[in-house]
Amino acid sequence: MTEPSVYTLAHLREWNRSAPSLAVIGSPIGHSVSPAMHNAALAQFADLAGWEYFRFEITPAELPEALAQFAARGFAGINLTVPHKVSAYELIPDRDASACEAQAINTLHFAAGQKPRGYSTDGYGLLRGLAGDFGFEPAGRTVLVLGAGGAGQSAVVALEKAGARIFWYNRTAGKVSALIPRLGLENTYLVNAGQIPWEETGLVINATSAGLREGDGVPVALPAGRRDLCAYDMVYKPAQTPFLREAAARGLRTANGLSMLLHQGAKAFEIWTKKAPPVEVMEAALKKTVYDP
Ligand code: ATR
Repeated sequence: MTEPSVYTLAHLREWNRSAPSLAVIGSPIGHSVSPAMHNAALAQFADLAGWEYFRFEITPAELPEALAQFAARGFAGINLTVPHKVSAYELIPDRDASACEAQAINTLHFAAGQKPRGYSTDGYGLLRGLAGDFGFEPAGRTVLVLGAGGAGQSAVVALEKAGARIFWYNRTAGKVSALIPRLGLENTYLVNAGQIPWEETGLVINATSAGLREGDGVPVALPAGRRDLCAYDMVYKPAQTPFLREAAARGLRTANGLSMLLHQGAKAFEIWTKKAPPVEVMEAALKKTVYDP
């Protein structure tokens, strides 16, 4: 019998593999490319023979039972994606500092005899991605973040924590004014599209979902001729989003969110396996799956 490409809570209730399993859970989850990256990494280690990483479609209503089942049925850990990151944070009391800062969990570790422990590796992934793609170090720099959904919040928290000053733009400005005090941000400021201080900005991050579809517009007008200004899109497919195309046409430096996906995954792999993640192998597997399937 061929194995399904996406598993469900019904499969989980019957799960009985002898080797440790890993998974990403979300809804929808069919598009997730995390299995390619993690299974390529697992294959590098003879002493992890039999370990495997799966995709599970889990709805919000199923999350509490699913977390208990994953912990009980031989999973070493899971990744959580949309829409579970904040709910998991509320359900899991044992949290690493990274999860507390982000007020979200994207990685759970199930160690024998211990309570499930929650982490957020998204902020680490973003910072490592920016360092790799641009050599960008946030301390003392000014960053413009576009978007105030889950992705935008995680970027703002990670960058402020790493010492950047943030200008935060969102189409619905009221969300940003409410989030700044709720997230305890002290060096983050609401800006409107018409009054962005570009000359002070070294990096602009698109964390809006505008750009997922061809024909989407760019959230704010970008300046021209700033070769020192880096433009990063948290979206990685298409590789050249409308935002990045516009940024490149204006002479800015550009990179997409594949590096963040890679490094958040590498950190999760390290948490689960205690191995140094084979980052180059993971990157090659990701690129092949995303751009050359
Ligand atoms: P995610 O969890 O990926 O961040 P989300 O919570 O749905 O996704 O947030 C989507 C973000 O993209 C929001 O900041 C949204 O702006 P609003 O808060 O005003 O809705 C932004 N967004 C979506 N479509 C957009 C568009 N066409 N132009 C500008 N911003 C857009």
